[in-house]
Amino acid sequence: MPKYSVERARDVLDRPFSLGGLTLPNRVVMAPMTREFSPGGVPGEDVARYYARRAAGGVGLIITEGTYVGHDSAGSSARVPRFHGDEALAGWAAVAEAVHEAGGRIMPQLWHVGMERAAGAPPVPDAPRVGPSGIALDGSQSGKEMNQADIDNVVAAYATAAAAAESLGFDGIEIHAGHGYLIDQFLWAFTNRRTDAYGGDIVGRTRFAAQIVAACRESVSEDFPISFRFSQWKLNHYQARVAETPQELETMLGLLVDAGVDAFHCSTRRFHLPEFEGSDLNLAGWAKKLSGKPAISVGSVGLSNEFLEVFQGAQATVTDIGELLDRMERDEFDLVAVGRALLGDSEWLRKVLAGQVGELTPFDRALIGSLH
Ligand SMILES: Cc1cc2nc3c(=O)[nH]c(=O)nc-3n(C[C@H](O)[C@H](O)[C@H](O)COP(=O)(O)O)c2cc1C
Repeated sequence: MPKYSVERARDVLDRPFSLGGLTLPNRVVMAPMTREFSPGGVPGEDVARYYARRAAGGVGLIITEGTYVGHDSAGSSARVPRFHGDEALAGWAAVAEAVHEAGGRIMPQLWHVGMERAAGAPPVPDAPRVGPSGIALDGSQSGKEMNQADIDNVVAAYATAAAAAESLGFDGIEIHAGHGYLIDQFLWAFTNRRTDAYGGDIVGRTRFAAQIVAACRESVSEDFPISFRFSQWKLNHYQARVAETPQELETMLGLLVDAGVDAFHCSTRRFHLPEFEGSDLNLAGWAKKLSGKPAISVGSVGLSNEFLEVFQGAQATVTDIGELLDRMERDEFDLVAVGRALLGDSEWLRKVLAGQVGELTPFDRALIGSLH
């Protein structure tokens, strides 16, 4: 199997790519990573510098940490940045400006945690935990089943955030629909037990997500890119599946394409694992093939283990990216997101393209505690 070499890395990764009206200089994306360094929900200068360092290191696109949309029940932490309110939006404008000055491009990841909200969480401690059926990921009935007004309010909150992103100078948006948070709670049959138009088969379960995408699409320019991040796995449910078969996946993606998605960001913990039997394609490979839209892959690029093992104390070491280059050479997917390797070393891409892999600073769990 061909391995990493500087020439191969340059040929494969250092090629431009068009996403809606946006041209990316290369194929590497910074994965969204919650950092909780925004006291009161306001990103400060240190957050701007943190993202600007990754832009200066050459990544083609930065997707920010998840940032809460303007709905009372959206969030769970006072240190996760919000994407609403004058102060937080002014902070975000400064982040976008710093990234652009460093030569980068940036999209906020718009987030609503749904049933994952902690009791009494800010900014409105009394706001309920909400979800499609009030059922949490552990199966407990511990929140409010959303009614039509709740659904409409969340859809509107996403649309407002999308419009704000464009007016603040961001280069697109990403909708966080993975990992068991609100939108994913609708997509996943285990947390969505509704018997109305928002539940049932994959068509019903995709309706909420598609309405959010359509509302965002309507509130921004036609060529303003919308990325949709989804996953099969959920927090603490690593065998979970939204789509059991390629046919279900095709139905779901088709509805989202019709609503206005420009790219699918397919969250897997290991990019090299096949998604369905009988094919080597990973989730992003299937998404590209079935939807005809650009796909972003992610998961353990350049590292020896996957990210949840890190939270359990495992140490990651730097690994060869030959298999990634193989898959991208075959056009299985278009872009690759890199998470922890870019936390370890903001210059990850520059070093990979310069043949300085031996000089990469490996990711270490302790790095999560600082915004370096
Ligand atoms: C500290 C940390 C925070 C994360 N926060 C988010 C997040 O806010 N939104 C999201 O979609 N994924 C989040 N993820 C998942 C990453 O985007 C990525 O999919 C995962 O780390 C796998 O990529 P990697 O193996 O290159 O690190 C987070 C991961 C880490 C390590």
